[in-house]
Amino acid sequence: MGYDNSHDLCSNLNQEQDSEFTRMTNTAVSRRGFMAGMGALGVGAFIGMSPIAQSVQAAMSASVKSKLIGFKPVPASTADSVVVPEGYKVTNLISWGDPLFDNAPEFDPSGKAPAASQALQFGDNTDGMSLFPLSNDRAVMAVNNEYTNVEYLYDHQGKAITADDVLKAQNAHGVSVFEIKKTAKGWSVDRLGKLNRRITANTPMQITGPAAGDELLKTAADPSGMEVLGTFNNCANGQTPWGTYLTCEENFHKYFGSNDDTYAVPAELQRYGIKVEDKTYQWSKHDERFDLSQNPNEPNRHGWVVEIDPMDPTSKPQKRTALGRFKHENAAFMIDKNGHAVVYLGDDERGEHLYKFVSKDKYIANNNQHNRRLLEEGTLYVAKFMAADGELKGKGQWIELTFGKNGLTPENGFNSQAEVLIYTRLAATQVGGTTMDRPEWVAVHPNKQTAFCTLTNNKNRGKKENQPIGGPNPRENNKYGQIVRWSPMNGDHTQSAFNWDLYLIAGNPTLHSSGLLAGSNNITPDNMFNSPDGLGFDESGRLWIMTDGKYSNKDDFVGMGNNQMLCGDPESGEVHRFLTGPVAAEVTGLTFTPDYKTMFIGIQHPGEKLKGSHFPEGGMSKPRSTIVVITRDDGGVIGA
Ligand code: FEO
Ligand code: CA
Ligand code: CA
Repeated sequence: MGYDNSHDLCSNLNQEQDSEFTRMTNTAVSRRGFMAGMGALGVGAFIGMSPIAQSVQAAMSASVKSKLIGFKPVPASTADSVVVPEGYKVTNLISWGDPLFDNAPEFDPSGKAPAASQALQFGDNTDGMSLFPLSNDRAVMAVNNEYTNVEYLYDHQGKAITADDVLKAQNAHGVSVFEIKKTAKGWSVDRLGKLNRRITANTPMQITGPAAGDELLKTAADPSGMEVLGTFNNCANGQTPWGTYLTCEENFHKYFGSNDDTYAVPAELQRYGIKVEDKTYQWSKHDERFDLSQNPNEPNRHGWVVEIDPMDPTSKPQKRTALGRFKHENAAFMIDKNGHAVVYLGDDERGEHLYKFVSKDKYIANNNQHNRRLLEEGTLYVAKFMAADGELKGKGQWIELTFGKNGLTPENGFNSQAEVLIYTRLAATQVGGTTMDRPEWVAVHPNKQTAFCTLTNNKNRGKKENQPIGGPNPRENNKYGQIVRWSPMNGDHTQSAFNWDLYLIAGNPTLHSSGLLAGSNNITPDNMFNSPDGLGFDESGRLWIMTDGKYSNKDDFVGMGNNQMLCGDPESGEVHRFLTGPVAAEVTGLTFTPDYKTMFIGIQHPGEKLKGSHFPEGGMSKPRSTIVVITRDDGGVIGA
């Protein structure tokens, strides 16, 4: 979806055990400092050139030294297309409104198509996705459809919403599951796939874990507090080794409103951004489930991680309350060396937090009946970062969010573990978690030594009292974003102590020759960008970074062009631009075939707010979010 310190808790980190982290941080920003800021190219080389010409010039002179990265970087772009490096090819897999079933109608660009059509078509605004291989030439794709742009969904652009319009928007949200097949022409959607399924804002789901059945989750339609309809604003994702898909509910607050404008939104819901007004989607006008005055507990039933079995189209999705309720970005899943499932989770809002879940039980290979309950029970933690003043690295601690501990008691308003989880944000504040610059995706390096999180931007940093400058959030009014990484004590992700540093600080070195606004030394005129968001590793350890930032290409963002995708080498610190997206789009969502020779990328909200994109079909066509397929002409591994 579009743009917009603590020092008292210390730990006995075992310094012997962080050699891998120390080795990696030797190449990172903290040691490079900020004085040079320009890499190999001086600012003077670009005087008098247009910003895009600067970028082209810089890209042409950029040299790739990394052993991991083998493509020729692309320059910044303002073109209304997806641009990939020489020797790479990009094709379209599926766009918003394309049929998912044999009996589904084709996309109707008029904006007048009914809800029933959308129920059989690919949802809008593709985001996180995972591939589940069936064979070498067949796979199941599970994809989030995060939200919808009313300016394109309806011919009236949202000015005359009907009940069917609300249902149509609900059908454009959720998750699309579909089979894809590979032929001589490449990958395509199989409309006859037996596993094809649409999960929407109205699909019945089970509530599981410590909050299931709690009073705060009960509604008139569901007096059990155990079954909820639907999932929406599904941002990014996760994938488990037992073959399930994790979809993460992010900005759920935008879908609620009150037809009774005297309704007073309680403080617990205000913390999640719930308001009486519902100007964009207007679901509360025609669906009483979203009317707060009638169903004040309905918002508590959203903001969770949902586990879906893509191999069984009749399976009931499971909302996993043990992973907390907030504006979930992704669910970075790993099996720790001790066998526990560890899931890192970002809460994408200014001044919110970074979380970690550790399962109570351990993963047992080939026992999926057991494994499928691992996310029902465990411990949730919030991150606390420590650093000396001005330091861009330090130590940290995961603080437990368990009822009865760390002040999570009735005196402070918490009466059960269910309440701690339903009001995770309030619990995180109670225990003193560090307020962050909008934590988006987390990715764990395949060597399991380090984890990375994009902190996309934060205009409130240094402005709001609870968001002081320092530690991993070092800039006032942070416009560009940064990527923090951490390494747990003993390489054990179930431990509470960790070391951290910044992998990169985005900036604009053509405007600033030094200092934090120039960015870290691995940011140069040839790779600069703003607002890192999507993040993922391939099996070789390339870090793929996707952006959701300002694409104005002027002022603070001059020379950065459209949103883009970059490839980072965590060891050398190098970052190279791999791809540029079309006009007014975000690049988000990433998955690969098992041989890493095919990459699937999401292009979200091209031309948002009527900004004049015609991606992907060109001409005067309506812009549509699209999954694209990237391969190499020589059939090699992507990025190598
Ligand atoms: Fe859906 Fe925070 O991005
Ligand atoms: Ca995102
Ligand atoms: Ca974002």
